[in-house]
Amino acid sequence: RQRNAVILAHNYQPGPIQDLADFVGDSLALSVQASKTKADVIVFCGVLFMAETAAILSPEKTVLLPDITAGCPMADMITTQQLERLKQKHPDALVVCYVNSPADVKALSDYCCTSSNAVKLVNRLPKDREIIFVPDQHLGQFICDRTGRSMILWPGYCPTHLRIRPEDIQSARKEHPQALVLAHPECGPEIRMMADHLLSTGGMIRFAGESKAASFIIATEEGIVHTLRKKYPEKTFVPITEYAICPNMKKITLEKVLWALADMQYPVTVPHSVRIKAKQALDRMLEVLPD
Ligand code: 13P
Ligand code: SF4
Repeated sequence: RQRNAVILAHNYQPGPIQDLADFVGDSLALSVQASKTKADVIVFCGVLFMAETAAILSPEKTVLLPDITAGCPMADMITTQQLERLKQKHPDALVVCYVNSPADVKALSDYCCTSSNAVKLVNRLPKDREIIFVPDQHLGQFICDRTGRSMILWPGYCPTHLRIRPEDIQSARKEHPQALVLAHPECGPEIRMMADHLLSTGGMIRFAGESKAASFIIATEEGIVHTLRKKYPEKTFVPITEYAICPNMKKITLEKVLWALADMQYPVTVPHSVRIKAKQALDRMLEVLPD
């Protein structure tokens, strides 16, 4: 209140951070919040690309990341030099970049997307244009499967989602035969084949609320199980494996949030020239809201 700050938290954040936050959501919902908040300060409880996105969308605000080492290994799997080279090979291609990417890669892209609006966004692109998709090959392949389009995929991946194995689904199904398996499209191909539904984290929360099913096996980062249990205490949510933990998301602690506000640490900014171009790609992402 003293700082006129808003605390935004991703669905993968530790439970106590989610409970403290003013708003908890998926990457798209958090970007929308960051773009329209009236607060002076945004404390972003998530990872660097999310805080950068908030800084691009709301340059007049102070955006704080409570632990400046909380990065996303998948976002760091693509550099501007690599994307430049790919664009030179495919000069007529449109570039769609997952929001899990560095700000300067967004600046070289035509569109950004998140897992909740990627299919809808790609479906709207002209059919006669090649598409380069960076950096997540798994989300990219999921989009190809759903849209029937082939895209040039960058071989990035999320180490946390690749820890989920087919054996984990088999044993969870054996123990909970009535449960529906909800998996994130960042999972590998076998998991995507085995799941009942492929959804963003926000999509999982909506689906679990609307579904008649009483139990769900959750194949994504375990933090979301806290949100689901809190929202729907009458339903059962089974985390797929204790190993699906994103160590970077878990770097944010209550103490670090307090210190962030006390010391105004660590401010995240994006250089003006990068920001202007990246904002264009992000604005196009915000125009496509999930159905
Ligand atoms: P969503 O919350 O948009 O599904 O994103 C998942 C993710 O991996 C964020 O790092
Ligand atoms: Fe990056 Fe994966 Fe962690 Fe999301 S869960 S922040 S994609 S490493």
